[in-house]
Amino acid sequence: MQLTPAQLAQFHHEGFLFLPEVFAPAEVATLRAEAETLYRSDRPEIWREKSGAPRTAFAAHTYNEAFRLLGADPRLIMPVEQVFGEKLYMHQFKINAKAAFDGEVWQWHQDYGTWQRDDGMPEPRAMNIAVFLDTVMPINGPLMLVPRSHRHGTLAAGHDVATTSYPLWTLDHDTVRRLVADGGIVAPTGAPGGVLMFHGNLVHGSAGNITPYPRKIVYLTLNAVSNYIRTPTRPAWIAHRDFAPIEPVAAGALLDYALHDRVAAE
Ligand code: SIN
Ligand code: MN
Repeated sequence: MQLTPAQLAQFHHEGFLFLPEVFAPAEVATLRAEAETLYRSDRPEIWREKSGAPRTAFAAHTYNEAFRLLGADPRLIMPVEQVFGEKLYMHQFKINAKAAFDGEVWQWHQDYGTWQRDDGMPEPRAMNIAVFLDTVMPINGPLMLVPRSHRHGTLAAGHDVATTSYPLWTLDHDTVRRLVADGGIVAPTGAPGGVLMFHGNLVHGSAGNITPYPRKIVYLTLNAVSNYIRTPTRPAWIAHRDFAPIEPVAAGALLDYALHDRVAAE
């Protein structure tokens, strides 16, 4: 999937791009079912909210075939390669649950703030590209973005280890107020299968989910190979050390798996 010049210009100007209904319903149904099975398992890569509900499953592309295929899907790899102009490796991979009733907040932050401070990533030449696994609605904790905030570089942040089970470099209220006064807040919503890519310095966060509707989103963090992390402090299943360039799988590999292979394996 190649981005058009207009889409690339929009990404650079706004700091994000939302592409609705990129993945087919059968593909997303498989990914959703696999995520739900993973959340029920007990492994160190699965982090939970204080209630015990799942919060995120790290590195699922290394132990689950459907997510392995997603992690090398050309529809996700090619647009990010286009932006950075070089091959990519997987810096992080996570399936965020934002569970019905129990999904907790993600405080306002910039992703590169963490990648720089915790992982020793030299430049903001990595970004998240996300796939909606459930319907993302205004009411179930959508990701909220501050348009154009990526133009302010990497902002001062505090290390919050207490608010949720996930330590994060978060922004103070005055900073968020100032950036929102300028750019506003948008929350892309839509059907499962939508894709959202956003700049590593784009300010974002999400509120808790008190609705009965889960809001699972899977995030690939793709880093330009030359921008590999220099001084990692986090476990290798959070900040990966395999800097080998991703070779995309064939177009249709995930759909084939969803329609044939997975059924055959059951
Ligand atoms: C993130 O900012 O990395 C995740 C936020 C979310 O899934 O709501
Ligand atoms: Mn983030």
